[in-house]
Amino acid sequence: MLKYVIQGGKPLHGEINISGAKNAAVAIIPAALLVNGTCRIENIPQISDVTLILEILQELGARVRTVNRSTVEIDCSSVHRTNVPYELARQIRASYYFIGALLSRFGTAQVSMPGGCDLGARPIDLHLKGFMALGANVEVKNGYVHASAPEGGLTGTHIYMDQVSVGATMNVMLGAVFAKGTTIIENAAKEPHIVDLANFINAMGGNIMGAGTDIIKVRGVSSLHGGTYSIIPDQIEAGTYMTAVAAAGGSVLIKNVIPKHLDCITAKLLEMGVQIEEQGDDLLVSRTGTMHHTNVKTMPYPGFPTDMQSQIAVCLCLAEGTSLVTEGIWENRYRYADELKRMGAKIQVDGKVAVIEGVRKLTGAPVRACDLRAGAAMIVAGLAADGTTEIDHIHYVERGYEDIVGKLRNVGADIRLVEFPDDAGHHSNVG
Ligand code: UD1
Repeated sequence: MLKYVIQGGKPLHGEINISGAKNAAVAIIPAALLVNGTCRIENIPQISDVTLILEILQELGARVRTVNRSTVEIDCSSVHRTNVPYELARQIRASYYFIGALLSRFGTAQVSMPGGCDLGARPIDLHLKGFMALGANVEVKNGYVHASAPEGGLTGTHIYMDQVSVGATMNVMLGAVFAKGTTIIENAAKEPHIVDLANFINAMGGNIMGAGTDIIKVRGVSSLHGGTYSIIPDQIEAGTYMTAVAAAGGSVLIKNVIPKHLDCITAKLLEMGVQIEEQGDDLLVSRTGTMHHTNVKTMPYPGFPTDMQSQIAVCLCLAEGTSLVTEGIWENRYRYADELKRMGAKIQVDGKVAVIEGVRKLTGAPVRACDLRAGAAMIVAGLAADGTTEIDHIHYVERGYEDIVGKLRNVGADIRLVEFPDDAGHHSNVG
């Protein structure tokens, strides 16, 4: 069993380079199915979710060539399957993008219902309603989504999203790329990765306007051509390291970010007394003094991201005074609270609200990564805590953070990946 072992209480100093955005990569890679010819995708993060998405693409028959550690070339001309089996789809939420991409390109898709982190109910009804509005026949049978286009193909239409959904917005965009006429998506999500997917499709010859606003227009085109595209930096990875510096103290240059995408996180940390200085594509984050309490409510972009809720909560655990956190997106995103309590945090959860009373310090303890971002929060807590923190279930963290151990060690953190046998006895240091 692999664990992270952290000796906390050391301030962080140096530079951290931010990788490509996970949630953009897991949509753009399936979008390669729409392209005639080869597309070269750069700035891909080396994380297990990306490995899985590439594996699914290869299972479908695509040729994937690794150019270097962050660049792949994808050629989908030999794709001969349109079904994504349960064993693969259940491992990753983003497998739902194969429904939109396969339906769009081949007029048919059979994809097992997706898996992913357990954050409460995670329906995909809006995705399916969107495909049906485009004229597709959609059925859920034996755990699989079966979607098929009518004889003459899909047709553009006006779609109003009942709820702001990142996944449904991107999936309907994929579905509409070749639909006849114009598709208008209203009440669309506005996250940076939505703009990134639209930019990728447009770079390959698509015609999508308005991404980043709540009305997106997709004008159907007859085909997409090959090309080169570079994925945006990861907003949540950058935000996680910003909270790590805030919690542990020190001064770190967070490199290769789009500062605008981080405004919602920066604003909260500034309010708490963390110093943040924009330097072109980098942010210098420093914390020497006491942090102050504040209230945080998660919302769709440009609001405070739900994927940063647990990490900022750790900072609030160490801030003077009482803070309120309200989860505005998911119904069950506080499972990490009990783990933080083991480290001395004072946090009470009631439904969607957590009340946090700041403490002067956290103390190291054995804890569990409950999901991807909760796991990142345990690392942030471990870096700030006195003593040793051992984190297990770290496969969640590996899904979304490229070389988190290496990047943190580079700024002076004492974090190691350690292999423990399941029963007591010898353990070996892995790196
Ligand atoms: C994506 C992110 C996830 C992030 C979330 C919100 C990926 C792979 N994952 O998830 O990390 O936490 O955005 O920023 O990009 N909903 C419905 N019906 C649907 C779809 C969603 O009711 O068909 C609801 C959900 O239950 C949730 C809300 O809409 O309450 C937002 O979900 P959505 O934005 O779709 O999240 P994901 O795309 O699954």
